Amino acid sequence: MELDGIDSRRIPRHVGCVMDGNGRWAAKRGLARTEGHAAGEEALMDAVYGALDLGISWLTVYAFSTENWKRPQDEVRFLMGFNEGIMVRRREELSAEGVRIRFAGRRDWRVPRRIVRQMDATTSLTQANRRLTLTFAFNYGGRAEIVDAVRSLMKSGIRPEKVSERSIAQHLYFPDMPDPDLVVRTSGEYRISNFLLWELAYAELVFTEVLWPDFRRQHLFEAVREYQARDRRYGGVES
Ligand code: IPE
Ligand code: IPE
Ligand code: MG
Repeated sequence: MELDGIDSRRIPRHVGCVMDGNGRWAAKRGLARTEGHAAGEEALMDAVYGALDLGISWLTVYAFSTENWKRPQDEVRFLMGFNEGIMVRRREELSAEGVRIRFAGRRDWRVPRRIVRQMDATTSLTQANRRLTLTFAFNYGGRAEIVDAVRSLMKSGIRPEKVSERSIAQHLYFPDMPDPDLVVRTSGEYRISNFLLWELAYAELVFTEVLWPDFRRQHLFEAVREYQARDRRYGGVES
């Protein structure tokens, strides 16, 4: 069985996914890059169901970075509409599965108002759910999040000697979100690309060659098996 080899007592609490490789997936098929993004929806849904199967309680997916605005205008426009489409198409179904949906990132003037309204509607529709918290990192940058946390901390009037790792963490976008235990990046790129910089200090990183549109729950299970084979030392010595 697919779940074979996974120890149900050591399921990562929080998994992050850098959903990469949509453009290359499309190029291999002679399609437009946007077709690759569209094909990523099924991968995302399968990953979410896989997370539910395993009993993962936090899943954070990188949907649009603060650097992705550099892309051609048409692609940016497509990605905005596509992300809106996913939440509108999928929120009822996900809510029925007990999924709470949230959005981490900056709500600056570049994000269309209509999308901001849909994000708020999606969040409030699903806010009572607790089986899985699915966070879309959208117009998200790890450095931007730290900048925003510092601003918020300074506005609180904190004295410099009171600044601590704990107080900084309390001013991140979601102070209740546990740090990721495992981050999976697809498409054979070995980098973080500004994803959850503060939070992934001790995350286990798993990289796979699979392009995001081909990603399915089995790939998530594989990543969890790899995670379970790791020895997390947090700077200490082997137990
Ligand atoms: C990931 O796929 C999706 C986003 C970054 C929004 P890419 O669009 O980066 O695909 P590649 O890396 O060009 O193949
Ligand atoms: C990271 O992928 C961002 C998302 C998956 C949303 P990119 O494709 O933007 O990252 P780089 O440019 O390869 O580092
Ligand atoms: Mg990419």
